[in-house]
Amino acid sequence: MKKLRLAVFISGRGSNMLSILEATKEPDFPAEIVVVVSNKVDAAGIQSAKENGISTEIVEHKHYKRREDFEDAIQERLKKYGIDMIILAGFMRILSESFVTQWPDQILNIHPSLLPEYKGTNTHQRAINDGKTESGCTVHFVTPELDEGPIILQKKVPILKGDTAETLAHRILEQEHIAYPEAIKRIASNL
Ligand code: GRF
Repeated sequence: MKKLRLAVFISGRGSNMLSILEATKEPDFPAEIVVVVSNKVDAAGIQSAKENGISTEIVEHKHYKRREDFEDAIQERLKKYGIDMIILAGFMRILSESFVTQWPDQILNIHPSLLPEYKGTNTHQRAINDGKTESGCTVHFVTPELDEGPIILQKKVPILKGDTAETLAHRILEQEHIAYPEAIKRIASNL
């Protein structure tokens, strides 16, 4: 079985990246992480990737005036890895239409809400403020419109009395760690 070659893009902690990495250790998991890319040199996830022997590439957006140049630099770095799919896992830069269209149906994202509700940031606080009784996470294909692409799967999480954005984020993150490997497995198995 040829495994799907993944580039995981992160900006911080990288716990979703690690959950995917854990899943790829299953011998029959249909994908492998070949590189972790970060726009931040001090992203904790970069350290974890290195500790796990995964190649890393740092492309700091702050060194580029134009988004296109930043993205071109990423594309350039990716060339040598023969990537099949890009996995956005807490990557805090919006990718331009030109980047996204170069990877049709090949970029996935995880978002901490039940899309189409609460696109963008601060999702947990907004759900609590609106008096919602449930939230969750969504894995979806990335299209040029932010948090809009076709949904692959969602996991629901109840919002409990007394939940804060932090407690809710924590319980949703546990589901993210299940959802992302499951979605990748589904996509990779259907190719
Ligand atoms: C997750 O909550 C994810 O849904 C959002 O950013 C966070 C990343 O966390 N897009 P981590 O870096 O994977 O720990």
